[in-house]
Amino acid sequence: MRMYDVILKKRKGEELSKEEIEFFVKGFTNGSIPDYQASALLMAIFFNKMSKKETADLTMAMVNSGDKIDLSSIKGVKVDKHSTGGVGDKTSICLTPLVASLGAPVAKMSGRGLGHTGGTIDKLEAFDGFSVELSEEDFIKNANNIGIALTGQTGNIAPADKKIYALRDVTATVDNLSLIASSIMSKKIASGADAIVLDVKVGDGAFMKTPEAAKELARAMVDIGTSVNRKTIGVISDMDQPLGYAIGNSLEVIEAIELLKGNGPKDLLELVLTLGSYMLVCGKIASNFEEGKELLIKNIENGKGLEKLKEFVEAQYGDSSFVDDTSKLPKAEYVIAVKAKDEGYISKINAEAFGIIAMELGAGRETKESVIDLAVGIVLNKKRGDYIKEGDVLAYIHSNDMRKAEKANNDILKNIIITKDNTNNIPLIYDVIE
Ligand code: URA
Repeated sequence: MRMYDVILKKRKGEELSKEEIEFFVKGFTNGSIPDYQASALLMAIFFNKMSKKETADLTMAMVNSGDKIDLSSIKGVKVDKHSTGGVGDKTSICLTPLVASLGAPVAKMSGRGLGHTGGTIDKLEAFDGFSVELSEEDFIKNANNIGIALTGQTGNIAPADKKIYALRDVTATVDNLSLIASSIMSKKIASGADAIVLDVKVGDGAFMKTPEAAKELARAMVDIGTSVNRKTIGVISDMDQPLGYAIGNSLEVIEAIELLKGNGPKDLLELVLTLGSYMLVCGKIASNFEEGKELLIKNIENGKGLEKLKEFVEAQYGDSSFVDDTSKLPKAEYVIAVKAKDEGYISKINAEAFGIIAMELGAGRETKESVIDLAVGIVLNKKRGDYIKEGDVLAYIHSNDMRKAEKANNDILKNIIITKDNTNNIPLIYDVIE
């Protein structure tokens, strides 16, 4: 087989066979197919798209390019949760201990943040000593004993995806539905969970800018999961404004803890209850969505979710006393109020811009090598649909650098859109694809 012919076939818009897809994935991973030919194929895929069958074949070829984690020694139905990435998305920090407190085992692989989106591991490192460096034995032991364990992306999970993603990133071929779906699902399938609940974000802070595109992506991922016998559910949720109020590592951890103490923001709580209920149904802990929701609310009210978070932090070498006393978490030197210059309704809070503002304050990574400042970020004081008067506080900037804070102040004012009429009619949950 020649790579030239595979490229030509896709350029003509024809369907690639399983063998041709495997030939490309194997050859590119082992270095026998050069970047320039892989780039040409990716661009042909971008323009001519892939069928459902090609997408499934690409996913499995990437799964088979590396290690597959065996979670069979963990008791119960292992349910994973994955978000396609957003701003202020601290869902995993409160959701995973909450479902674990109800007996659904969570053995999860999480990532770090890059660009305008944050990563769960960075956020959890706000707990002094917290580490994802668990041996495989301890990972399994923790998942069995306390019902929750978290690890970082190990080197050899779907290495083909790692290489292909890096190439997509520099060849303008990231935002293709089949390439995104196969990239995410290859890692989820190789990570070994029995069921997967996907939080597919839609809006200006997400890959998918319209509900139709997000639904199509969710449908593609659900089809892939189902084709390999993993129960998969896709929840389409809003990312047209940041989730909750806090953006920034330590600040988001505090908000997640507050949710487990019963003081969570409305949108974050709704998302946690929705994703959590589906996780409990998939994990056979609840017989239906409503029952799952009731169980989750109960374990927020009785404090069992919060207790599980403490057990989890401790089991991963972190200082769990930070959960009771959040003032121990990293704190910024300056807290500056951003005040409104107009009167009216907030019609938009540009999610992507807020992710970038937080990153520039130091909360995120511009490049993989950047060192992040766990303390800094933004806490919104108002959300879409709120009425504000001139001089009202829109947000608080947490910064360790006054120059950066001044720039953030101007950027925040530019990215909160105020209108005379209340145009807020965007739902948090658009749809659920099963
Ligand atoms: N996240 C991934 O892991 N892969 C993509 O292609 C997009 C988002």
